[in-house]
Amino acid sequence: MRHKRIIVTHYGGPDALQVLEEERPEPQRGEVRVRVLAAGVALPDVMAREGVHPETPRVPFTPGWDLVGVVDRPGDGVSGMERGQRVAAMPIHGAYADFVCLPHRELVPVPSGLDPAEAVSLVLNYITAYQMLHRSAHVKAGQRVLFHGASGGVGTALLQLGHLVGLEMYGTCSARGASAVSDLGAVPIDYRHQDYVKEIHRLTGEGVDAVFDPIGGPHLWHSRKALRPGGRVVGYGNTTSLRGEGLASGRPGRRNRLHGIPIYALYIAGSWLLPGRKRLVPYSIQTLKRLKPAFFRQDLIALFDLLQQKKIKPLIAHRFPLVEAKQAQELLGRGGVIGKIALVCNEHP
Ligand SMILES: NC(=O)c1ccc[n+]([C@@H]2O[C@H](COP(=O)([O-])OP(=O)(O)OC[C@H]3O[C@@H](n4cnc5c(N)ncnc54)[C@H](OP(=O)(O)O)[C@@H]3O)[C@@H](O)[C@H]2O)c1
Repeated sequence: MRHKRIIVTHYGGPDALQVLEEERPEPQRGEVRVRVLAAGVALPDVMAREGVHPETPRVPFTPGWDLVGVVDRPGDGVSGMERGQRVAAMPIHGAYADFVCLPHRELVPVPSGLDPAEAVSLVLNYITAYQMLHRSAHVKAGQRVLFHGASGGVGTALLQLGHLVGLEMYGTCSARGASAVSDLGAVPIDYRHQDYVKEIHRLTGEGVDAVFDPIGGPHLWHSRKALRPGGRVVGYGNTTSLRGEGLASGRPGRRNRLHGIPIYALYIAGSWLLPGRKRLVPYSIQTLKRLKPAFFRQDLIALFDLLQQKKIKPLIAHRFPLVEAKQAQELLGRGGVIGKIALVCNEHP
């Protein structure tokens, strides 16, 4: 039996994505073959395609951080997994496929009745948002926070989860995302035309309790200026490697997938040394999952519960069939997407 998967043939632009048709993979001992119902399309996928994400595999590879699917065939030595059972996983790469084989301990059961595209939004974006709020910043009701990239995939998750806590929220976005950000309960700040540090101090007086910054580089230092004394910046990305310095595919020369890390280290040290008790803390979903796998499972189950209770509602910007992964990544790379893009596969192929 054959299936399709997407491969990145070389580090570069969307043309690096190709559709491959091949035999379905067979599960090894301890693995489960999963039929993918939805795979998320996120900026880290685009950064891996460009070769600038720290988790970039060697080419050729199949992209795709997160998926929701059904158990198709449990391999030898797997118990407690029934064919047809819905599961979610965050393999970091490999999810852009009709079928994927994963170690059974990586799979988290998904409650029945959930829309696969909405459910897959929880796996990368909402866990990132949830863990940053509750495990990195330890936010409390009434605190003031600033979310950068507030209209994007992780940004809209932060807004919905921040609203549940009762935070006073501010969010940077471009003009096209402003209405979505205010609908989700935050004050939008146009990062292209306003100085957000000035704007935060004008609106709040002394500054915010926490800033959540996916932009990275010198932007982290500006974010620090928006804090009140004792506040913290949670740094969780390096979008500058993609957009600030231009798409890597538009430039000749070598990729440096780790170039953001020394800059982070420098800013963390600087934050400790300068007065004001303002801290910079890095967050990485994959690092926390490797160190504390139980947190990932526990937090995903808590988020599925919130989705079932309709306390959160992921914004699905677009749904594409798997074979249009290239168009999906092109759209995300152009910017202006409100919420999450998902690759959706047939329920009954
Ligand atoms: N550390 C982790 O564990 C972790 C996990 C998941 C994601 N991430 C990181 O989180 C970031 C966002 O990922 P995503 O999938 O949510 O991307 P996304 O959906 O493309 O959202 C990014 C958003 O950022 C906005 N933006 C771009 N430049 C900005 C700037 N200078 N100031 C403020 N907003 C700006 C974009 O708005 P416009 O397009 O309208 O300009 C867009 O809405 C990426 O850097 C990713 O690597 C980190």
